[in-house]
Amino acid sequence: MALFQSSTRTAPAILQVPRHIAIIMDGNGRWAKQRFLPRIAGHQRGVETVREVVKACRELGVEYLTLFAFSSENWRRPADEVSFLMQLFLKMLQREVSKLHENNIRLKIIGDRSRFDDNLNQCIVDAEQLTADNGSLTLTVAADYGGRWDIMQAMQTMLQKHPDLAGGLNEEDLEAHLAMNYAPEPDLFIRTGGEQRISNFLLWQLAYTELYFTDTLWPAFDGEALKLAIQSYYARERRFGRTSDQVLNERMQDEKK
Ligand code: IPE
Ligand code: IPE
Ligand code: MG
Repeated sequence: MALFQSSTRTAPAILQVPRHIAIIMDGNGRWAKQRFLPRIAGHQRGVETVREVVKACRELGVEYLTLFAFSSENWRRPADEVSFLMQLFLKMLQREVSKLHENNIRLKIIGDRSRFDDNLNQCIVDAEQLTADNGSLTLTVAADYGGRWDIMQAMQTMLQKHPDLAGGLNEEDLEAHLAMNYAPEPDLFIRTGGEQRISNFLLWQLAYTELYFTDTLWPAFDGEALKLAIQSYYARERRFGRTSDQVLNERMQDEKK
């Protein structure tokens, strides 16, 4: 039995507050360039936005927040920028994990990790272990993550575990092995920085997610900007393939209960 409802197998219940928000934090480099600063100054400033958005999500009662921090394609960037981002990630883990733990936040890191150095990998394992039983918010950081990598690794693990399944696979079999098998599918996706693309983020899980794009650059995004995104989410009608009348009828039935 799957832990959460799948949007393609049954129409999930529509909740007031989005349970899961997934964000592509884009625009750090442009934010810095506009201020005649090096790109890394934008990444540094972006960390403050992360703190603010985590706090806002806790206050709003969001259960899962997933942040895209480094994609499998970001290794193509200049070596000094990649190395700065890796150091920043390590520093963040070393500095912030105790605060996350105090705030009862569970931290998860999803991604390939094989190109990270031993020190960083050890910090990830320690941080996940320390916060594993926390229950206020699950904060997932996608680092060296790619949606296609995730589907491929899930497929490989699934076939290794159940070689007999090859003839009769279903979605549930694969979902169990995706990197974020502990979370429901995102309700709301936000991308800052003006681009309107998925950039190989959560390809499987975004099947029925509401998409929200804003021109605001990540370092300039804040709690208020998050509330605007959530307001836009409230105005959507999530039909999951059904008609508008069906959705309305169902809502009326629920209200009668
Ligand atoms: C997002 O900001 C951060 C990472 C991808 C690590 P960018 O660095 O992509 O900023 P822009 O898109 O160049 O402005
Ligand atoms: C997506 O941003 C990845 C992260 C925010 C980590 P990019 O800036 O790398 O995306 P593209 O290359 O413009 O699509
Ligand atoms: Mg970018």
